[in-house]
Amino acid sequence: MAILPCFSIFCSLIFFLSMKVSLAADTVIPASFIRDGEKLVSSSQRFELGFFSPGKSKSRYLGIWFRKVPDTVVWVANRDRPISDHNAVLTISNNGKLVLLNQTNGTIWSTNASSEVKNHVAQLRDDGNLVIRDNSSVNTTENYLWQSFDYPTDTLLQDMKMGWDLKNRRERYLSSWRSDDDPSPGKFTNRLDIHVLPKMCTFNGSVKYTCTGEWTGDGFVSALSNTNFLYKQFLVENQDEISYWYEPYNRPSIMTLKLSPSGFVTRQLWNEDSNEWDELFSIPDDYCGKYGYCGANTICGPDQKPMCQCLEGFRLKSQFNQTGPIKCERSHSSECIKGDQFIKLDNIKAPDFIEVSLNQSMNLQQCAAECLKNCTCKAYANSNVTEGSGCLMWFGELLDASRPIRNFTGQSVYLRQPASGPDKSKDSWLPLFSLASVAAATENFSMECKLGEGGFGPVYKGRLLNGEEVAVKRLSSQSGQGLEEFKNEMLLIAKLQHRNLVRILGCCIEQGEKILILEYMPNKSLDVFLFDPTKKRLLGWQARIGIIEGIAQGLLYLHHYSRFRIIHRDLKASNVLLDRDMNPKISDFGLARMFGGDELQGNTKRIVGT
Ligand SMILES: *[C@@H]1O[C@H](CO)[C@@H](O)[C@H](O)[C@H]1NC(C)=O
Ligand SMILES: *[C@@H]1O[C@H](CO)[C@@H](O)[C@H](O)[C@H]1NC(C)=O
Ligand SMILES: *[C@@H]1O[C@H](CO)[C@@H](O)[C@H](O)[C@H]1NC(C)=O
Ligand SMILES: *[C@@H]1O[C@H](CO)[C@@H](O)[C@H](O)[C@H]1NC(C)=O
Ligand SMILES: *[C@@H]1O[C@H](CO)[C@@H](O)[C@H](O)[C@H]1NC(C)=O
Ligand SMILES: *[C@@H]1O[C@H](CO)[C@@H](O)[C@H](O)[C@H]1NC(C)=O
Ligand SMILES: *[C@@H]1O[C@H](CO)[C@@H](O)[C@H](O)[C@H]1NC(C)=O
Ligand SMILES: *[C@@H]1O[C@H](CO)[C@@H](O)[C@H](O)[C@H]1NC(C)=O
Ligand SMILES: *[C@@H]1O[C@H](CO)[C@@H](O)[C@H](O)[C@H]1NC(C)=O
Ligand SMILES: *[C@@H]1O[C@H](CO)[C@@H](O)[C@H](O)[C@H]1NC(C)=O
Ligand SMILES: *[C@@H]1O[C@H](CO)[C@@H](O)[C@H](O)[C@H]1NC(C)=O
Ligand SMILES: *[C@@H]1O[C@H](CO)[C@@H](O)[C@H](O)[C@H]1NC(C)=O
Repeated sequence: MAILPCFSIFCSLIFFLSMKVSLAADTVIPASFIRDGEKLVSSSQRFELGFFSPGKSKSRYLGIWFRKVPDTVVWVANRDRPISDHNAVLTISNNGKLVLLNQTNGTIWSTNASSEVKNHVAQLRDDGNLVIRDNSSVNTTENYLWQSFDYPTDTLLQDMKMGWDLKNRRERYLSSWRSDDDPSPGKFTNRLDIHVLPKMCTFNGSVKYTCTGEWTGDGFVSALSNTNFLYKQFLVENQDEISYWYEPYNRPSIMTLKLSPSGFVTRQLWNEDSNEWDELFSIPDDYCGKYGYCGANTICGPDQKPMCQCLEGFRLKSQFNQTGPIKCERSHSSECIKGDQFIKLDNIKAPDFIEVSLNQSMNLQQCAAECLKNCTCKAYANSNVTEGSGCLMWFGELLDASRPIRNFTGQSVYLRQPASGPDKSKDSWLPLFSLASVAAATENFSMECKLGEGGFGPVYKGRLLNGEEVAVKRLSSQSGQGLEEFKNEMLLIAKLQHRNLVRILGCCIEQGEKILILEYMPNKSLDVFLFDPTKKRLLGWQARIGIIEGIAQGLLYLHHYSRFRIIHRDLKASNVLLDRDMNPKISDFGLARMFGGDELQGNTKRIVGT
């Protein structure tokens, strides 16, 4: 409210009016009525209950909303019983039911009877919970005879629980509206999936639509966002309940977790300055957020190309394009030979718990040993991520593993690898192209297709049979390296993946040729821009800074974070390629290692030429 200069009578009038509002009741007692146009207001005026029409609808519904945000309804009584006029009333009946009556006292909606009560009232609590309670027990919060918090709605308010009330065998979950104009139950529900370890899943009908990873102690894997400092999340598991709830650190702030009619779960915070909702996160936020999008035995990563890739130890059977689902199969036919090993995948959202076994008293070593014993065990991990204890083993298909894009703490999963050792299994990992297919893609290495000549040989533009554009680098065979060494080296280099490194899609080793198939960069290389007077001007400072940062990130990865340290030794503008969006990608990394030898010494005199 604006601060007005305020004197005597005027002032007391305002005061009187606001007093009247603040004294609006929060309670319905027998023989009292709430009519269309009237409201209940919770004691500290956080919530209101009254009649409303959603969106473009003309129908009337009884609902609860934040007093400050009347457009955001958080609970509706008569969700699928719209009222066509303004004559409905809410009252509490003599047998302790809260009832919504039409003009002729027919029941539109009602709660179940609370038989044992005599002295019952309905109250809109300050947390947004509409409850029926015994009037004599003023202080009880436990013994509500009925509460709106127990029933599906599309909004999880702070302190409101979601999950299972085991005592009353009741599930509390979110249920989407059909549309913004229609609060009747829509297709989507959001539930605490407690089959193995608690995780949060949205269902489209009975089909999983999106799932978080498991509970880590402060949140769910993949739904942890960098706005976590704004609120605390809780999960309790005991004989009475398995419940999730959250609480903003700044308690008076208005925060909700809302399930939209189209299946998005959005955490939003009311911004008092701009008077609008700030979205903290919304899932699914990309293809990888969609349950099992890539198919079985894959890992989905919005940052990786292609987005869907086979998990290590599985071989690509078919792939249609860079963004679609793929088919992966065991890369080794005779499973379970003595000497199988595991590789560790860090910071991922683990596969869903479809066919798993759980033993919370085993440690990681016991878990590995147990998994190794059983041929059908494909992976294992700690079941308690926070403490690093317990054993979870996966059998059957591995579905819905991902590397989410957000900065979050994922978990480590150990994936079974066939015994025949790392070389063989990596063999299938880097696609080998036949010389015929590479020739076809580049029109027999024609001059028309030639993009340029790099330090290690000519580069051609090619188009694969599936239409994908690629760059083909035909390495001059000056190096004395044998084909087998070359292949192994390529397999290592191809494992380096970073958004600022040019990705290696495959190689071709045939008839003495050594050819690399790389992702195609439509904007060519940085030198094309830097050393061309007209193009130069196209590169604004913002773009330049972006490019410099990208190069630095790529180098940092090569030098510091990659599996083995690589020093480029020939970094120059022509080796920095630019994708469609002018993101820089370093090319020819690792080739120095192959062609030059002792790269770890890093005895280079070259300086970055940008
Ligand atoms: C509906 O109930 C109220 C209160 O019990 C009563 O006053 C009113 O006459 C009733 N209306 C009709 C149409 O029965
Ligand atoms: C009120 O509800 C009753 C029972 O549902 C129904 O029979 C009656 O037609 C309704 N009256 C009006 C005016 O809608
Ligand atoms: C309300 O009562 C009906 C009939 O007794 C019962 O089937 C239903 O489960 C009850 N609903 C709740 C939420 O207790
Ligand atoms: C409820 O309790 C309050 C105070 O304890 C009392 O003033 C009020 O009359 C009671 N209302 C009913 C409906 O019993
Ligand atoms: C209700 O709780 C308040 C604060 O917790 C306390 O001061 C008051 O005495 C309680 N009243 C009853 C009737 O128990
Ligand atoms: C939900 O399932 C229905 C089929 O039941 C399907 O037509 C629809 O596309 C699905 N919605 C989403 C968002 O996946
Ligand atoms: C990729 O393939 C999937 C199905 O396999 C299809 O839905 C999608 O539209 C394709 N994307 C492109 C860019 O072709
Ligand atoms: C869990 O593992 C422990 C230790 O290996 C074992 O003693 C126990 O029987 C296992 N429990 C189940 C249910 O398999
Ligand atoms: C391997 O594990 C599966 C799933 O738990 C089980 O059905 C099967 O009996 C186990 N096989 C052996 C040899 O232990
Ligand atoms: C992990 O173990 C610790 C200690 O036993 C326990 O407090 C915590 O709740 C467990 N976390 C989960 C997610 O079960
Ligand atoms: C990710 O978050 C952690 C903890 O909040 C922080 O220490 C780290 O620097 C962040 N990393 C990136 C890449 O943002
Ligand atoms: C490429 O060369 C092969 C054999 O030398 C020939 O059969 C084929 O037609 C050529 N293709 C093109 C596109 O020139």
